[in-house]
Amino acid sequence: MNKTKRAAVIAGNWKMNKTPSEAKTLLEQIIPVAKGADCEVIACVPYVDLAVAIETVKGTNVKIGAENCHWAESGAFTGEISTGMLKEIGVEYVVLGHSERRQYFGETDETVNKRTKAALAAGLKPIVCVGELLWERECNITEEVIARQIKLDLYDISAEDAKKTIIAYEPVWAIGTGKTATADQAEEVCAFIRAQLAKQYDEQTAQAITIQYGGSMNDANAAELLSKENVDGGLIGGASLVAEKFGAIIDAATKG
Ligand code: PGA
Repeated sequence: MNKTKRAAVIAGNWKMNKTPSEAKTLLEQIIPVAKGADCEVIACVPYVDLAVAIETVKGTNVKIGAENCHWAESGAFTGEISTGMLKEIGVEYVVLGHSERRQYFGETDETVNKRTKAALAAGLKPIVCVGELLWERECNITEEVIARQIKLDLYDISAEDAKKTIIAYEPVWAIGTGKTATADQAEEVCAFIRAQLAKQYDEQTAQAITIQYGGSMNDANAAELLSKENVDGGLIGGASLVAEKFGAIIDAATKG
């Protein structure tokens, strides 16, 4: 299997942006630019926007994801949201282990692993984020950091479930900074991730898993990044909040 046989997935990560009414407006702008796309198109939106987002995209090719979920079915976890809550309203995807969760909210590889398992058990498709800090890249330990994250985040997850998981490579130094990894840097680490997956599972499983790049991907750099063999899609923050930029990235994925 090669790139052309893997699902290309362009996902917006809205972060803490857009009220429900603003979400509806933005999705109404995204729907026409996503129409006919030869890739999967997802908008991962804040919890309170999910219901209106799902209603708005009904009958279109745009899918909706959440930005996190808890591993427990229910209980004393103030402020958290369970996979059952997401499933019941029709959420399909969930971003897990985003560097902002790791950096500001104490997320660890252990909790990312628990959340990923819970998401898969509930039938949600996880988008698991990994990536090195600038300091780690400068110290030349990018591969060690990524291998550790892939091993721990996917610990005890079967090959069958791993194939339902999307990995997003997001170098932390490139997120929201305007500093994109070069296409070669992105390809190098995405290829490393695939090799790591082949070690952990097998070559066929590794070849089937969609690996995205994320970190200042935009309408100007998407085509080059997405042309790389191991870059199967993108997880897009800032540029996913502007329909025409997001549309241009979808176009680039369709052509790439
Ligand atoms: P950015 O964010 O595109 O704004 O850099 C990417 C992400 O955090 O997923």
